[in-house]
Amino acid sequence: MRCDAILPHATAHEPAPRPCPRPCRAAHPLLPVAAAALLLASSYLALAYLPAAAPLTALIGSGGGDGHNGSSCAGFYRGGSSGWRAVSASVEEFGAVGDGVTSNTAAFRRAVAALEAMAGGGGARLEVPPGRWVTGSFNLTSRFTLFLHHGAFILGSQDPEEWPLIAPLPSYGRGRERLGPRHISLIHGEGLDDVVITGNNGTIDGQGRIWWDLWWNRTLNHTRGHLIELMNSTNIMISSITLRNSPFWTVHPVYCRNVVIRNLTVLAPLNAPNTDGIDPDSSSEVCIEDCYIESGDDLVAVKSGWDQYGISVGKPSSNIIIQRVSGTTPTCSGVGFGSEMSGGISNVVVRDLHIWNSAQAVRIKSDVGRGGYITNITIENVRMEKVKFAKQKFVFEILKCKMQFAKQKFQSNQDPKSGMP
Ligand SMILES: *[C@@H]1O[C@H](CO)[C@@H](O)[C@H](O)[C@H]1NC(C)=O
Ligand SMILES: *[C@@H]1O[C@H](CO)[C@@H](O)[C@H](O)[C@H]1NC(C)=O
Ligand SMILES: *[C@@H]1O[C@H](CO)[C@@H](O)[C@H](O)[C@H]1NC(C)=O
Ligand SMILES: *[C@@H]1O[C@H](CO)[C@@H](O)[C@H](O)[C@H]1NC(C)=O
Ligand SMILES: *[C@@H]1O[C@H](CO)[C@@H](O)[C@H](O)[C@H]1NC(C)=O
Ligand SMILES: *[C@@H]1O[C@H](CO)[C@@H](O)[C@H](O)[C@H]1NC(C)=O
Ligand SMILES: *[C@@H]1O[C@H](CO)[C@@H](O)[C@H](O)[C@H]1NC(C)=O
Ligand SMILES: *[C@@H]1O[C@H](CO)[C@@H](O)[C@H](O)[C@H]1NC(C)=O
Repeated sequence: MRCDAILPHATAHEPAPRPCPRPCRAAHPLLPVAAAALLLASSYLALAYLPAAAPLTALIGSGGGDGHNGSSCAGFYRGGSSGWRAVSASVEEFGAVGDGVTSNTAAFRRAVAALEAMAGGGGARLEVPPGRWVTGSFNLTSRFTLFLHHGAFILGSQDPEEWPLIAPLPSYGRGRERLGPRHISLIHGEGLDDVVITGNNGTIDGQGRIWWDLWWNRTLNHTRGHLIELMNSTNIMISSITLRNSPFWTVHPVYCRNVVIRNLTVLAPLNAPNTDGIDPDSSSEVCIEDCYIESGDDLVAVKSGWDQYGISVGKPSSNIIIQRVSGTTPTCSGVGFGSEMSGGISNVVVRDLHIWNSAQAVRIKSDVGRGGYITNITIENVRMEKVKFAKQKFVFEILKCKMQFAKQKFQSNQDPKSGMP
């Protein structure tokens, strides 16, 4: 199926969007040259239009079989049991109440732990039936399927205490927005293998407005949580559901391998701050396909850590396919590379991207001193409608266009409340 038939919805009465940093174009005729020279001096960077490297193409099947006529990279998910699970139960059996009010955090946590024990290694499936299931953060486990039926809504708790703090990622060294620890994601997993989050278009809604308000009114104490974050995990499949209103980036696989994210609808108000759609970060063998995304930031952003922390962890993002993604983001891009790319990014194919009413289709971002590299990026068949910077095939930039304002840049690095690019 194609997701691009879905109409984008406009959200009225929202505060003005905080724009993504703009490309340096047109500021001064020599600026792009200066920018390129500076970046080359500060980091090794190579861009090449090359055919996809062997490990990528070898993993793509040749069409058919799964509902569309293009090729699929879903083979990146290699769950040992192909999704088969020994036990299955509904979250209701663990005391959850789908009334849109009751907090089900304990029920979800109990359900995952009990099913894991019952499965005895054979894998478990947790069903979320139709209803409005409010919950705080809970962790998944290995060989596990979270299945959302049509009409099921997992709703993010409105109590920040239900999103407890966890340590910053080693490759960021601090919360991305605030110093120190960060709020955990609504659905979280670490050190797992074979995790599936799927359904018949059930919805996970982060109800992120309280977090955007904290951001807008500058009362955020700790970095916001993601809707879904999987760390240091392998064989992940996230498919056929709707993700809405993430407090921060929506799907964040970090230090992961063999990740498939497909057939998703990802929605957030077009001005919701930093609600990136899908952000593979220091991860490899990642397939993102057939997704419709509209949000307040990049639809897809490939990352690999931040400044000295990202450099010292040194985990690149590589072997990534992004295909048949469509959507809109008024001030940002369809596919972004960086700006956090200190661990390096290589071997990425972006194709059949359809993007409208947006700032850019594909954007490559770095910053002074960020280190890393971006290499072997292939971009094919990009359809752009009402895209601001469409004349350039892609926009290549150094963040914030502030090389000429070194002092200002320095201050913004020092002030943890100044926000993030
Ligand atoms: C880029 O691709 C070329 C040709 O496929 C390959 O030789 C090289 O190792 C790749 N570089 C990186 C950094 O992956
Ligand atoms: C199916 O493939 C044909 C031929 O390659 C192409 O013209 C058409 O756009 C494709 N349809 C979809 C829905 O991708
Ligand atoms: C979830 O996992 C994280 C580690 O990734 C841990 O810090 C946290 O305590 C776990 N939460 C629960 C409720 O087990
Ligand atoms: C990653 O997860 C594996 C288990 O899958 C564990 O053995 C390893 O210690 C973890 N690595 C880190 C850096 O946490
Ligand atoms: C995509 O997801 C929808 C539900 O959201 C489902 O009906 C459809 O079969 C899925 N298509 C594929 C190709 O998985
Ligand atoms: C899934 O739900 C979303 C949100 O309601 C909707 O926009 C989309 O069209 C649905 N997808 C399918 C395949 O029905
Ligand atoms: C900031 O937003 C939060 C969440 O909506 C709200 O509780 C708080 O009162 C707001 N603070 C200010 C100063 O507006
Ligand atoms: C942020 O910290 C201040 C000072 O400790 C506290 O008064 C406030 O309630 C905190 N805000 C949130 C949303 O936790």
